[in-house]
Amino acid sequence: MRKLAATSAGALMAFAASVSAASADKLTLYCSAQEDWCQLMARSFEDATGIDVDMTRKSSGETFAQVRAEASNPKGDVWWGGTGDPHLQAAEEGLTMEYMSPMRDQLHDWAISQAESAGNKTIGIYSGALGYGYNTDLLAANNLPEPACWKDLLKPEYKGHVQMANPNSSGTAYTTLASMVQIFGEDDGFEFMKGLHKNINQYTKSGSAPIKAAGRGENTIGIVFMHDAVKQAVSGFPVKVVAPCEGTGYEIGSMSIIDGARNEEEAKKFYDWALSADAQNLALQVNAFQVPSNKGAQTSDKAPDMSTIKLIDYDFAKYGSSDERKRLLQKWDEDVSTLPQ
Ligand code: F6P
Repeated sequence: MRKLAATSAGALMAFAASVSAASADKLTLYCSAQEDWCQLMARSFEDATGIDVDMTRKSSGETFAQVRAEASNPKGDVWWGGTGDPHLQAAEEGLTMEYMSPMRDQLHDWAISQAESAGNKTIGIYSGALGYGYNTDLLAANNLPEPACWKDLLKPEYKGHVQMANPNSSGTAYTTLASMVQIFGEDDGFEFMKGLHKNINQYTKSGSAPIKAAGRGENTIGIVFMHDAVKQAVSGFPVKVVAPCEGTGYEIGSMSIIDGARNEEEAKKFYDWALSADAQNLALQVNAFQVPSNKGAQTSDKAPDMSTIKLIDYDFAKYGSSDERKRLLQKWDEDVSTLPQ
C-alpha cells in the first residue's frame, strides 16, 4: 500500500505545497468508505503534508452516532466518506461546521448541491448506485434463478440466500430502505422490507460485507452499492452485478469537518486536498469504483455506468433529514427486524 501511495506522492506533494507548508501536526480522521481506500487516503495525506493521521474506519451510521455522542467533547476532525444521508443529518444537528473550500469550482454540480442543501456543512466526494450482486457458482449449485429485479429477491427459493447490512449502522442499508420507500411508496416499501426479511440470512454491520461474503462463497446474494460488487468481480471472484429492473437509489458519498474539531487547520488542509483530482485518483489504486466529484479526476472504465442505470430522483433533503432518518430507522426496528424469519 505504501508503495502504491508513493507512486503519486510527487503530484500530491506539489498540491500540498500549494495549500500549505508541511507541518508536524496531526489529524483525527473518521472514515466511512472502504478500509483499503481509507488507509490509502490517510497514508497519502501524511506523505504529502507531514501531518500525522489517526484514522478509524466505521460504517456511516456508526460514525454519525459516534460524532453525536462526542459532540460535547469532539475527538474527530474530519469525517471522510460514507453515504450522504447521515452527513446531512449531522449538518442539520449542528455536529459539523460550515466550510467553503477554494476547490469547489473543480467539482460536479451534484457535489455542490449536496453542500448547498446543508449550509455548506458537508460536500459530495463521490457517487454510486445501489444494486446487488450474486455469486454465480452458488446460484447454479443451488439451482436458483438469476434475479434481475428488487421484487425477485422476495421469491421463497432465495430463503437464507440474501444478505444486507443493518440500516442503523450502515449507510448502504439505509439507502436501501429509503430507496424502497421511494420506489414502491411507504406502505409497499415496508411490505417489501418485511418480505425480504424472510430471506435474509444475516444483517451485517458494514454495508459492503454481504458482497465480500458472496465473493468468498459464504453468501449467495448481497444487497450493496454496485461499485462494491464490481470490486469483487474485478478481484476475480464469481460475482455478477445487477442494476435492478424497477430502478434504484444512489448515494452522494460525502465529507464533513466536525464542529469543534481540535485540529481545524489540518482538517481544512485535508478537506481541500481530498477534493483535488490527484487525491481522488488514488481510488483507482484500490479498485474503488465510485464516480469522483472532481471533474478532472478519472472514473475507471470498470465503474458502473450511471448514465445507463435507471436511477430514481433520490430525495436527499428528505431522507437525509434528522426526523425522517430517525422515523424510518425506528419503523424498520419495530416493524421489520423483530419479525420471525
Ligand atoms: O465500500 C464503499 C462504500 O460502499 C461507499 O461507497 C459508501 O459510502 C460506504 O461504503 C458505506 O458504507 P456503510 O454501508 O458501511 O456505511
